[in-house]
Amino acid sequence: MKDLSVDPASQAVRGTLTETAEISWLISHQNVAPPTGVKVCVIGGGFVGLVTATGLAQAGHSVTCVEKDKQKAADLAAGKVAIFEQGLSELLQANLQRDRLTFTTDLAGSVSGQDMIVISVGTPSTDDGQADLSAFTEVIRDLARSLRSGQVVTIKSTVPVCTALFASQLLNEGRNGQGPIPVVSNPEFLREGTAVYDFFHPRRIVVGGNDPIAVEKVVQVYRAGLSRPAPIVVTSNETAEMIKYASNVYLAMRIAYINELSAVCDALDIEVADVSSAMGLDPRIGPDYLDVGPGFGGSCLPKDLNAFVAGAQRVGVNLAIAPAVREANERQLDRVAEKVRAIVGGDLKDMRIGVLGLSFKAQTQDMRDSPSMAVVLRLLAHGATVQAFDPAAMEEARRLLPQVRLCATAAEAGAGADAIVILTEWPEFQLLDWAGIGRLMRSARLVDSRNLLSPEILRRHGFEYIGMGQK
Ligand code: UDX
Repeated sequence: MKDLSVDPASQAVRGTLTETAEISWLISHQNVAPPTGVKVCVIGGGFVGLVTATGLAQAGHSVTCVEKDKQKAADLAAGKVAIFEQGLSELLQANLQRDRLTFTTDLAGSVSGQDMIVISVGTPSTDDGQADLSAFTEVIRDLARSLRSGQVVTIKSTVPVCTALFASQLLNEGRNGQGPIPVVSNPEFLREGTAVYDFFHPRRIVVGGNDPIAVEKVVQVYRAGLSRPAPIVVTSNETAEMIKYASNVYLAMRIAYINELSAVCDALDIEVADVSSAMGLDPRIGPDYLDVGPGFGGSCLPKDLNAFVAGAQRVGVNLAIAPAVREANERQLDRVAEKVRAIVGGDLKDMRIGVLGLSFKAQTQDMRDSPSMAVVLRLLAHGATVQAFDPAAMEEARRLLPQVRLCATAAEAGAGADAIVILTEWPEFQLLDWAGIGRLMRSARLVDSRNLLSPEILRRHGFEYIGMGQK
């Protein structure tokens, strides 16, 4: 992470950091978990596969992770993690050293002798919003040739309802009297940035399947890694598949709602944070996941929302809420761009805008479906020049936003700018020398789409400040 200049006198801090202390605890107690002898093959070394493989190895299992990208597999085998994920690199290296974790490109050669095969390949959106199951289906076809009775296939990839049934048919159709291979659905609920923490402290573990022995095996494999007891929900494959979509669509809806509420608060001169914190006191609502922002993004929520809508259509259900959530999220992006236009006086043409934050949320380098990127594209379309900084996403930004001048520091992104817009809630931005940055700007104006900073302090530093749903 970049070394940002910090001026304690101008700190404009709101909120607190995540579960960092717990992750440090885990790393310093790395040798606690005894090996349990279960052999697991994780297919797919992306974000979910990698966290799962490393977490299971840390829990004491012997894990082989199959990643078909040769370079990526070689890097991982050498202990190099390309993604920005708290604690992951350290745990991966520790388990490589203990020989509990290996990486390979060879799927067929890795399956034999494994107790459990975990599929965690990507299921991106197709053009019409459905989940693209091509990589998943290819894996199932490969497995059908290599699996033996007694092995369990676990689906961790997010897949439409009835995919486990389809996978089971494909796996078992040519088995000529050999015992069937059970398929267990085990959706993940890992948040990027705190995925290692989430792996060891799940709010629930969902295990779906119709073979009780296979289900129990999967439950035991996960139980070994728990730092404290977690509810384990045992259900059918279809219910497990639905729980994943239902959760993510609900989370997307909650964010769309709070963002829409912030627009109404703006119009009525009401502080949205006062409203949301009072709402959160009701246990039926709860305090989490009510932070205003430029909209939801990332590799899961938008994709799962699309797949949910497409899946409902396929079974003849005409939805009202989920499509509206998509629409509301787009409007929020427009609203942020509109606030930037308003703060510079109504016309973005030839205006220089400093952007802080490009990843879809803090604590990750991931720019997949990043609301920041969507806002930047809107600013560019209105004729603005954009100069941007992110503490972790610069490499991705170089690839995805060639039209943007990327800066080495937040201060550089502000230099000469007509306005700054904060798009990602990196806590580092709270610690910047805002008074100094204001002096570098052509005009000290700030749009804070995450309500990250204190308006009072920024105004004291001479800024014209606009947040979201603030008085
Ligand atoms: C999400 C789910 O939380 C996780 O359970 C699932 O397995 C994968 O998808 P993730 O994509 O890592 O995890 O991000 P999350 O922390 O849920 O945030 C999603 C988006 O919503 C981000 O763009 C974030 O900035 C935004 N968000 C989240 C808000 O705008 N306000 C909030 O209060 C929370």
